[in-house]
Amino acid sequence: MPAPKVLAFAGSLRKDSFNKKLARVAADAVRAAGGEVTLIDLKDFPMPLYDGDIESSEGIPPNAKKFKELMLAHEALLISSPEYNTSITGVLKNTIDWASRAEKGEPPLACFDRKVAALLSASPGALGGIRSLLTIRSILSNIRVLVIPEQQALPKAHEAFGPDGKLLDAKVQAGLETVARRLVAVTAALARPA
Ligand code: FNR
Repeated sequence: MPAPKVLAFAGSLRKDSFNKKLARVAADAVRAAGGEVTLIDLKDFPMPLYDGDIESSEGIPPNAKKFKELMLAHEALLISSPEYNTSITGVLKNTIDWASRAEKGEPPLACFDRKVAALLSASPGALGGIRSLLTIRSILSNIRVLVIPEQQALPKAHEAFGPDGKLLDAKVQAGLETVARRLVAVTAALARPA
């Protein structure tokens, strides 16, 4: 059976983002679990804020199209996102909003339909950004993504990584590996012909 293809990214643009670091560690865990991972940085896909006037006059922006193409080429998503004011970040929501727009002739929500997703969060705070995951889970579930129940939040993210970029807390690492294994297993199971 071919390895499930997973598109991984953080919901932060910041160069030293803790969520980018967590996505990197999680990507390794997915590879160890048998998945194939493409790790991207949303900073490489700058998009305007969604504006219906831009869409009507210019169509979907080139970077949003590129992002959609990447999504279409993968079966699963691995998202590590910060929590902003207890909710989803603007950049993640904006990316989802543009990606949800259909080109002429394209079926609705084509790049979300039947996707499997796993969610992670990291924050310097004590809750690790976990409150945002409920919102992200709800948004994705409403646009035909199957979000696996396993998730991992990383509190005190500013103290969580060693100089090699690895997680210092074995429990969090184990939680991440569980998420990675489940993501690969569920994606592989759904890819099997019925
Ligand atoms: C935050 N931060 C934050 N942290 C948290 O745990 N809960 C929250 O509700 C918020 N709210 C919030 C709003 C805004 C506008 C900013 C800029 C920040 C702090 C946030 O977790 C911290 O900046 C992280 O470092 C952001 O993630 P990255 O960029 O390191 O991945």
